Amino acid sequence: MSAKQPLCTAPEGSGTLDTLLCEERVFRPMPRIVAEANMNPQDVAIARARAESDWLGFWEEAAEELSWFRKWDAVLDDSAAPFYRWFAGARCNIVYNALDRHIETANKNKLALIWEGEPGDTRKLTYYELYREVNKAANALRAAGIGKGDRVLIHMPPLPETVIAMLAAAKIGAVHSVVFGGFSARSLRDRINDATPAAIITADGFYRNGRVITLKGTVDAAVAKCSGAAAAVLKKVVVVHRVLVETAMKEDRDVWYHDFVRDQPDEAFTESLDAAHPLFILYTSGTTGAPKGIVHAHGGYMVGVNRTLDWVFDLKPTDIFWCTADPAWITGHSYVVYGPLMAGTTTLLYEGHPLYPEAGRAWSVVQRWGVTVLYTVPTLIRMLMRFGRQNPDRHTLGTLRLLGTVGEPISPEAWTWFHKHIGRSRCPVLDTWWQTETGMFMISPLPVSLLKPGSVTRPLPGVEVDVVDESGAPVPHGQGGYLVIKKPWPAMLTTIFNDPEAYRRLYWERFPGWYFSGDVARKDEDGYLWIQGRADDVMLIAGHRIGTAELEAALASHPAVAECAIVGVPDEIRGEVAKAFVVLHDDQPPVATMMMTGETDQDLIEHARRELGPVAVIREVEFRSALPKNKNGKIMRRLLRAESTGQSTGDLSTLSTDI
Ligand code: PRX
Repeated sequence: MSAKQPLCTAPEGSGTLDTLLCEERVFRPMPRIVAEANMNPQDVAIARARAESDWLGFWEEAAEELSWFRKWDAVLDDSAAPFYRWFAGARCNIVYNALDRHIETANKNKLALIWEGEPGDTRKLTYYELYREVNKAANALRAAGIGKGDRVLIHMPPLPETVIAMLAAAKIGAVHSVVFGGFSARSLRDRINDATPAAIITADGFYRNGRVITLKGTVDAAVAKCSGAAAAVLKKVVVVHRVLVETAMKEDRDVWYHDFVRDQPDEAFTESLDAAHPLFILYTSGTTGAPKGIVHAHGGYMVGVNRTLDWVFDLKPTDIFWCTADPAWITGHSYVVYGPLMAGTTTLLYEGHPLYPEAGRAWSVVQRWGVTVLYTVPTLIRMLMRFGRQNPDRHTLGTLRLLGTVGEPISPEAWTWFHKHIGRSRCPVLDTWWQTETGMFMISPLPVSLLKPGSVTRPLPGVEVDVVDESGAPVPHGQGGYLVIKKPWPAMLTTIFNDPEAYRRLYWERFPGWYFSGDVARKDEDGYLWIQGRADDVMLIAGHRIGTAELEAALASHPAVAECAIVGVPDEIRGEVAKAFVVLHDDQPPVATMMMTGETDQDLIEHARRELGPVAVIREVEFRSALPKNKNGKIMRRLLRAESTGQSTGDLSTLSTDI
């Protein structure tokens, strides 16, 4: 197999990717890994052949591994495509698979969840304990008049109750929507207005980087400004007591979590749901407008997540699985909560900052709990690399057997550092490509795959992708093009909440019949895929998706701003950060004065942070008297981005689009 990578055009805003374009190393699987793998290379070849010859039969076999209340009439109903229905006619509940069925097996008293708080406090729950906690919460929700189809919004730090709340909502057929604890009251309010939840579950606060961050006040501020429709639906705000802070509680509406569940029985029936019944809504940024509520349904999602977790992380009964994602992101949903629990694995959840109180915290977590699989993001790897190898070297890390990354392209340097200093050159690094919308891993190596640092390798069996040009024709190997998914897949999003038309338009119209991922990639001569970044106006700041439109709207709400444009620029640690180009209102002091005092930049940066939350990282504000526009009056962000990254605009024309 040749590993020589032909050069291709670099995408905009991707500084670290230069090295990706000339990466030539390959890493062959170690004999021990192959010997221990659940899927050896021969099994993988069989699975691929099976998926090609009988694609539906292949996914049906994956579904047979789970428990159903009623089996499907059809594996896939595509009569209303792109509104595909997987396992049509089946009845199920993902919580039955994640909890109930384990209670009948040897997993009953196995650890389901290990939780470590930032101050060092810990909690451990067996499957049976988690099951009982979930039942109590499910009964409490039911007693509050919340049931099937109602939305439950969860605005929480990573706590055991976050997991419990998600599972309790799903158990009764309610639809959870977890909103990251770092979002602002405004971001939360927008999501409350769209999801119109019957209950909000939150905490008084949490620990982050040695500080107490309060949370309940954000919920109060968001609810105070939410729409009348949303206010009319909201029945309860349930508050987990995590920190010692004064917390205002509104009579009749607010209740402490411990009071809410206290007298509830620890058995509760699990709702039997249509396979297409929505499990959760997760908001994510797109090219335009406000974040979209991505909807996933019980049946297909549970099959896709269960199968892919087992393939990629090759689970063993003794695993301690640490996915460092916050449960509020899709990675947390699929591979902190649902995937590991369906598999009967022990999942680890850490509350705090990975560098608190010192840079070795992550490695001490691995060592103390004997983590076997570590799944994280390139941003964290780059952050930890900065502190050198002495931190990991002080820990044994000998329990690790597999490493994984997700969320943004990983540079070969970060990949090899992770492989060498954390995996001690023994553990394969599995770079998994997927999205909030896909729900499950789509393109990823398996432990037995030949690896090339920086490549996500090949699609998983049963998943069909391609790299195509504007007209949908496959691009020659080595050239950049749009990443499309050519067949539906079980864990796919089912719609956008409140906006099915946008679902059709955003994902299925660009290349009719195929799903448009919004990413740019290239394929090398071995068929290996290299993700180059987003094709649209979405930034990946520390792996978090932030739409430029969203950030621009937040900035434009500052009274001094007449007009603004945001572009993503490369950042050594975060991968990408925002740069703002701002035109001020005429009545503002001259730009020259502002540049000297630096006052307004900080003002604007702080304003955006207040509006959206700390995920909105603006590194620089540049004041302009006007912004470049095309003849239709559209701001030419491409030009601004090219200026900011020192690329020539000509180079960008093949890859960037104004979709
Ligand atoms: O651009 C791709 C990037 O993250 C986007 C999806 O973001 P989100 O929905 O927030 O989900 C992140 C976690 C699944 C993709 O469109 N991305 C995801 N994984 C990778 C990646 N870019 C490069 N390599 C990856 N492994």
